[in-house]
Amino acid sequence: MPASSSPRPVAYLDHGATSWPKPEQVVHAVTRALTELGGNPGRGAYAMALAASRAIFESRRTCAELLGVPDSRDLIFQPSCTAGCNLMLKGTLKPGDRVVVGSMEHNAVARPLEHLARTGVEVVVVQGDRTGLVDPDDVEREVRAAPTRAVVCQHASNLTGTIQLIGDLADIAHEHGALMLVDGAQGAGHVDVDIRVLGIDAYATSGHKGMLGPQGVGLLYLSPDLDVQTQVQGGTGGGGSESPDMPIERPDRYEAGTANTPGILGLGAGAAFLITEGARQHRREAELARQLIEGISTIPGFRVLGPPAGAPRVPIVSAVHDRVDADRIAFALDRTYGIAARAGLHCAPWAHRTIGTVDCGAIRLGIGWGNTGEHIDLALRALRDIVSS
Ligand code: ALA
Repeated sequence: MPASSSPRPVAYLDHGATSWPKPEQVVHAVTRALTELGGNPGRGAYAMALAASRAIFESRRTCAELLGVPDSRDLIFQPSCTAGCNLMLKGTLKPGDRVVVGSMEHNAVARPLEHLARTGVEVVVVQGDRTGLVDPDDVEREVRAAPTRAVVCQHASNLTGTIQLIGDLADIAHEHGALMLVDGAQGAGHVDVDIRVLGIDAYATSGHKGMLGPQGVGLLYLSPDLDVQTQVQGGTGGGGSESPDMPIERPDRYEAGTANTPGILGLGAGAAFLITEGARQHRREAELARQLIEGISTIPGFRVLGPPAGAPRVPIVSAVHDRVDADRIAFALDRTYGIAARAGLHCAPWAHRTIGTVDCGAIRLGIGWGNTGEHIDLALRALRDIVSS
């Protein structure tokens, strides 16, 4: 380990996996949940339980404000984006349905769809191009070809940072009577999300990546008209316990079990931070990504994946080297330079297959809150050293 025995990196460049460090407000909110709001929200009428419920209500409202969700009850807290994707897909698709999906999906979508395909859902995959972009014309061709229940697409790629044209895809889906379901794990917090403008039917996202909350919490927006079957049944508090069925009201219908109060409050604090700082943060991330792409492109043997420098992307930069493999680069970045980055297939074999890197994987540097120009300079020096030694 470079500086001390602490595992804390000198430069953290794995924001695609999870954000770190967290804004002070997030740490404070989690601490407050644990120290002052420890009652079970919705399960008691004593002051501390009521205060926890109120704090969750406020957190939901703040997340709704950030994401442009008109009624915060349509925003469901989930244990992760993966859980949200599972609910969104398994709660809407049934045997005999046809779904059209882009080829850049993460396993959070690919695996539930592979599972649904075994139950009789027809899954049609539309190939993205070498930059990871899924062309809306190709999607339209498939949607036209046969009655389609849903178009599914990520907001942004966790491999290439490519931002998909989900507004256009939503228009196409709706013109043909299909739903538009989105995995926003790498979108929310890194790009503006306004559900009213996007016009989509469901948007799942992580709470701990761009949204800057703690791990163990995610969000799922469900349009008010969408009838999604519950996947988890259980206690919801708030009355009606005698019924054998889940309540029909949102968000209770989809939030069985004790809430993750520390996670939800931390997420709300992350959303509040982004409401005031998000625009500045996005500009900064874009500039750092540009520097990183341009810098890597000058190192012999490297090929940067995804959109070219300057083109819109979330601040994820992946690359392959023609001689040194990605795992070795990640290992050296960590052990010799104290730089945290992720190599391999990034739980996204479909995406790697799309851009032709499934056999070698890639080294990925994910930029986010707290990164500086020095982190980028350090990473560039380290990458140059590693591949020239
Ligand atoms: N999905 C996360 C990543 O891309 C964990 O690394």
